[in-house]
Formats: sequence, C-alpha cells, structure tokens
Amino acid sequence: MRRAALPVLAVFLLASACMSGQGTTEEPKDSWSAPPEARSRQNPVEASESSVERGRMLYRGNCYLCHGPEGHGDGPWVEQLPETPSDLTDPEKMRGMSDGEIFWKISRGREQMPAFEKQLSEHQRWDVVNYLRWLGRAPEGSE
Ligand code: HEC
Repeated sequence: MRRAALPVLAVFLLASACMSGQGTTEEPKDSWSAPPEARSRQNPVEASESSVERGRMLYRGNCYLCHGPEGHGDGPWVEQLPETPSDLTDPEKMRGMSDGEIFWKISRGREQMPAFEKQLSEHQRWDVVNYLRWLGRAPEGSE
C-alpha cells in the first residue's frame, strides 16, 4: 500500500499545479492595498451634497462604463475586460478602505483599472471618493 501512495500523490500534485496555472481557481488575486501613508491621508473635501453631486457626474463620465451605474462592477464594458471591475458597494470591501486608500487607488490604478492622477484633479478625485461613500451607504433600516 505504501508504494502505491507516491504515484497517486504525484498525479494529484501535477493536476492541481495545472489547474492553478490556468487561473481556474476561484481565489481572488492578491489583494490590492495602499501604502500606510496613503491610507492615513485625510479627505480634505467635506462630503457635502454638492461634492457628492460633482462626484456623481465624474463617475458617470469616467467610471460607469466599467463599474456600472450603481457601482456593482457591471458596466457595459465589462464583457470586453479580462477582469471584473470591483463592486464598489460591497460593504465589507468599502469599510476596509479608508478614504485615503480609495483616493490612492483611483489615482494610481492597477492593470485594467486606469490611473486618474492626470485626468482628474485632486479635488475631483476626492469628490468621487465622497460619491462612492454615498453610493455604498447602508440602506435605510439595516443598521
Ligand atoms: C476600464 C475599466 C475601468 C474604469 C474606467 C474604472 N475602473 Fe475602477 N477598477 C477596474 C478594475 C478591473 C478594477 C480591479 C483592479 C484590480 O483589482 O486589479 C478596479 C478597481 C477599482 C477600485 C479598487 C477596489 C478594490 O477592489 O480595491 C476602485 C476604488 C475603483 N476601481 C474606482 C474607480 C473609479 C472611481 C473610477 C472612475 C474615476 C474607475 N474605477 C474607473 C476597472 C475600471
């Protein structure tokens, strides 16, 4: 019995190596986190109604095609993308990110997610952060 175990193990290892190599696993890829100094950066723009409104317009123009009308990662471009855009209303995800971290990610981008450092002013990027906070707010009565 002991001698038979090795080849079985080898086949198993080989098979699992092939599978992970093709990215067929459901594991999310390595997490994306901002450096500490970006995370602790304070949002200088008050989340006023007008900031959220400006953020909404900027989102429509720059983010909606990928992240979708409500931020669920289901915009019209999604089928063209090799990777699904993040759901920006996922409470766990959004609670885990500070405003500074969201700002940093919007500024820098990663792979399919474009960098907006040059396209949007700092103030505009904070407006978008305020809009995303508004978008992801808890539905009434849930808390
Ligand atoms: C071309 C499609 C595309 C556009 C346009 C786009 N995104 Fe993304 N976005 C993505 C993808 C894909 C990811 C996942 C990137 C990754 O994890 O590597 C992402 C990730 C993010 C994240 C990080 C969430 C996380 O999981 O950590 C934030 C925040 C974000 N986008 C906000 C925005 C905002 C705000 C805009 C508009 C100013 C925008 N995105 C425009 C495709 C897009």
